[in-house]
Amino acid sequence: MKILVMGPPGAGKGSQSAKIVEHYALPSISTGQMFRDAFNNNEPIGIEAMKYIKDGNLVSDDITNEIVRIRLSKHDAEKSFLLDGYPRTVAQAIALDNLLEEMGTKLDAVFNILSSNDVLFERMEQRRVCKQCDATYHLKFKKPLVEGICDKCGGTLYQRQDDTYESVKNRLEIYESKTKPLLDYYDKKGILYQINGMQEFEKVYNDIELVLRDL
Ligand code: AP5
Ligand code: MG
Repeated sequence: MKILVMGPPGAGKGSQSAKIVEHYALPSISTGQMFRDAFNNNEPIGIEAMKYIKDGNLVSDDITNEIVRIRLSKHDAEKSFLLDGYPRTVAQAIALDNLLEEMGTKLDAVFNILSSNDVLFERMEQRRVCKQCDATYHLKFKKPLVEGICDKCGGTLYQRQDDTYESVKNRLEIYESKTKPLLDYYDKKGILYQINGMQEFEKVYNDIELVLRDL
């Protein structure tokens, strides 16, 4: 199973991806998370990427394509994987298609999680993430049992650097201009599935599951 989860910032890509990869035992490949991990580990690529990420701009196609190429060449991604947030430009989608062709494979399904901008702003303002294991919380809809502490690993919860109002606004604009055109690209291939992301977590997941079951 080789799938891609798309959607505007805050739509629930990471939350749904976490559930899918747990259920189907897939390796999860989130470019945003890879950049944040590299930044937290003081790696040069992470420090470079964070210059763009904090203001809500995209990291260059070259850097992004390269980290995905390296990640997809690992043994565990041979048979299946889930991509979260990559590709998000037409140039990245073409690079991915070329890479998959080299690997003798292709994507099975692309999920686009939809949401209104009001909901997205609220979700990112209320989001908290575990520094240690990346688990994601929402202060209203998915509260940690103990304030500021991750239920899963006891790590400290923090607010992402790019979850400021200005950065979110910029990310939404970039999504509209650079990423939305990809929907047409995948629709023409007949592998695009639109998912209503403005439902409860479980309902969103069930809608995705209905498609995955038949792949
Ligand atoms: P990335 O980390 O991918 O961020 P994003 O696309 O902005 O999306 P988010 O992670 O903010 O949201 P999400 O859809 O995962 O929502 P979540 O599940 O957390 O990328 C960050 C940055 O890295 C980019 O801006 C860019 O700079 C760079 N980058 C990454 N990939 C790149 C690429 N390919 N090319 C170039 N640059 C790249 O949910 C959000 C909140 O809502 C949470 O609090 C959650 O608990 C809550 N929530 C989720 N679902 C529900 C629900 N159904 N009901 C109620 N609450 C919900
Ligand atoms: Mg995410």
